[in-house]
Amino acid sequence: MDPRTNPYAPGAGLRPPELAGRDELVERGAIALDRVRNGLPARGMMLYGLRGVGKTVLLNKIRTDAEARGIVTASLEAPEGRSLPEIIVPILRGALLKISSAAAVKSRLFGILAAFGKAMKLKFNDIEVAIDAGPIFGVADSGDLERDLGDLFVEIGAAAGREKGAFALFVDEMQYIKKDELGALIAAIHRIAQDGVPVTLFGAGLPQLLGLAGRAKSYSERLFEFVEVDRLNEAAARAALVDPARRLGVDYAEEATMRVLRETRGYPYFVQEWGKHCWEAATATPIGADVAEDATERSLHALDASFFRVRLNRTTPLERRYLRAMAELGPGPTYRSGDVADLLRKESSQVAPVRASLIQKGMVYSPAHGDVAFTVPLFDGFMRRSMSLDD
Ligand SMILES: Nc1ncnc2c1ncn2[C@@H]1O[C@H](COP(=O)(O)OP(=O)(O)OP(=O)(O)O)[C@@H](O)[C@H]1O
Ligand SMILES: [Mg+2]
Repeated sequence: MDPRTNPYAPGAGLRPPELAGRDELVERGAIALDRVRNGLPARGMMLYGLRGVGKTVLLNKIRTDAEARGIVTASLEAPEGRSLPEIIVPILRGALLKISSAAAVKSRLFGILAAFGKAMKLKFNDIEVAIDAGPIFGVADSGDLERDLGDLFVEIGAAAGREKGAFALFVDEMQYIKKDELGALIAAIHRIAQDGVPVTLFGAGLPQLLGLAGRAKSYSERLFEFVEVDRLNEAAARAALVDPARRLGVDYAEEATMRVLRETRGYPYFVQEWGKHCWEAATATPIGADVAEDATERSLHALDASFFRVRLNRTTPLERRYLRAMAELGPGPTYRSGDVADLLRKESSQVAPVRASLIQKGMVYSPAHGDVAFTVPLFDGFMRRSMSLDD
């Protein structure tokens, strides 16, 4: 088929041609937003799940819906190894520009943000913000992240709320925020939620986010709705594959659809990848089983060279051996850490640092004490294809 019209969108955070199977989650987000805007208690959402299940896409959708409601939003992706204050200041500055308030209110907000940046600069010296010497408000400038973030949110929320709006902060890859900074962010939201300030937080991250948030602040689970974003059920995966092509006059034979659903197991990223390759390989409609088979080969090849490979490239040789040993134990999804250690002919305590660094890098997580699992779906197959246990 014509590559110019290929509708599929494999990629990070790329809006899919069909946002399948997420209506209920989108609606839950919309309810939370409407409640916040109307001054009612509401819990922000924390979306957690494996790589490529569609967390970023969902977060972006909820954000677009928020903006359509006149809610002021700001969104950031937590990078590995940088401080939260450093990244949040420029992002909040962008949000302030969108608050249509009187000039005096605006200049107060910018002044307070500058003071926040300055106080944080003293503490986290990696932060680069243009700091104007303005009037001193004595707000958000104590240098205590939790308190200052709370102050800032109160000010922004009050300004946004004046026009029956609200302020919503969206944070992606939240598992990369350092523990004390995550605790400060959650505590700041907690404080303002109690005061009825129209501010809310939507986050997304790998499955370890659940435990990280709980350990940072034990009341996290009451403050936020933790929602697992999982692979698509059969009907949704089918819609994600079939509907975009059908809109362009191209159908799938049932065997082809079944083949793709089986290979992708309903993981959204993989459905996009397989759809793209089916389209590329097909010469006529309906797309048949032979095309799906061809697409499987092309898709695995593409995944091995990019989606899987970029993740493996971030690991050390020791970490790769650990991952390979996990894969040796089969498709999982969970593995006993002890079994992995046995395969490596080591004591659990000897491999614990490797396991910890893999968790830190977001390659694996621990679903329960003593268990370990890949954060990337189908990674076990890739590991078996790409190296042997003795490498
Ligand atoms: N509901 C859906 N229906 C169809 N395709 C989807 C859906 N959600 C996401 N996708 C597709 O899946 C891919 C991955 O989406 P996204 O980047 O949002 O995943 P993610 O969970 O944020 O992954 P990561 O953990 O790697 O950041 C994209 O190509 C996107 O178009
Ligand atoms: Mg993402």
